[in-house]
Amino acid sequence: MLMITGATGALGKLVTARLSDREDVVVGTRTPGPGGRRVDFDDPSSLDFTGVDTLLVISAGAAEDDVVTTRHEAVISAAEKAGVGHLVYTSLSGDGDHLTYALAHRWTERRLRRSTLNWTVLRNGLYAEFLAAVAAPGPDGTIAAPLGDGRLAAVAREDLADVAVRVATDPAPHAGRTYELVGEHPLGGTDLAHAVGGHYEPGTLAATREAITAAGQALPFQIPMLLSTYSAIAGGFLDGTSIENNQLRTLLGRAPRPALDVYVEEVLSPSGV
Ligand SMILES: NC(=O)c1ccc[n+]([C@@H]2O[C@H](COP(=O)([O-])OP(=O)(O)OC[C@H]3O[C@@H](n4cnc5c(N)ncnc54)[C@H](OP(=O)(O)O)[C@@H]3O)[C@@H](O)[C@H]2O)c1
Repeated sequence: MLMITGATGALGKLVTARLSDREDVVVGTRTPGPGGRRVDFDDPSSLDFTGVDTLLVISAGAAEDDVVTTRHEAVISAAEKAGVGHLVYTSLSGDGDHLTYALAHRWTERRLRRSTLNWTVLRNGLYAEFLAAVAAPGPDGTIAAPLGDGRLAAVAREDLADVAVRVATDPAPHAGRTYELVGEHPLGGTDLAHAVGGHYEPGTLAATREAITAAGQALPFQIPMLLSTYSAIAGGFLDGTSIENNQLRTLLGRAPRPALDVYVEEVLSPSGV
């Protein structure tokens, strides 16, 4: 049996859609429908992985570090206890260590290496869809995201779903491997503006922090998450050049989807994720 956690999230939905014709796939989610299992990392009593051969753990990273590490400890411990054959974990690309949310991913990777499980780590780059959410043009076409002259090696979420499916459906050859999965053509503010017919006038981190705070939609922990993302892009850390062995194309077995196309599609018709 292959179980997928985080199945109602944006990545999880893409993964489960690709596996809909398989009878041995079980959807693990906090809100299960028919045939699904309740899996809530915050409730250890829901973490029964009996009979699971492969567990695809989609990270539950939208929380403070101590919450995320407690969640991931609970799920890995439960997988060890149940004798899960192989755990595949969606992590963060190796160039993301300056992001505030890197710590929980690296903690989880370390915990996996110490575990009794066979494991594979998929170090996902930041999504092109996420870039559209954090660097969208305003009503007058201005992109004011503080990306400076930096660029992001963004990757289409669908490509990451394809890789996750490939690895999770035949995990044995990938045991003990950590795969870097980032886009091949990094995108900067000028590229984005050009693609949507707008213009790029990067703001400052301070102005952006004020705007996010004033909008009142971000939870307290999300403000440093967003600011560290802008700062790491602007600082040139996320353009993919420091990734030595990008496995995206190899594991896809084809060229990656152009991240710029995904950005434009998402800006024109936001999926809300
Ligand atoms: N690479 C990037 O650009 C990027 C951007 C944003 C987030 N991420 C990370 O990648 C993950 C997947 O991305 P996504 O786009 O699918 O995010 P998403 O749409 O926010 O989905 C995240 C999923 O995490 C699951 N989750 C949250 N709390 C949980 C808990 N207590 N127990 C079990 N599952 C829990 C939920 O699944 P259920 O509701 O089905 O239980 C939720 O749907 C995120 O959780 C985050 O860690 C990456």
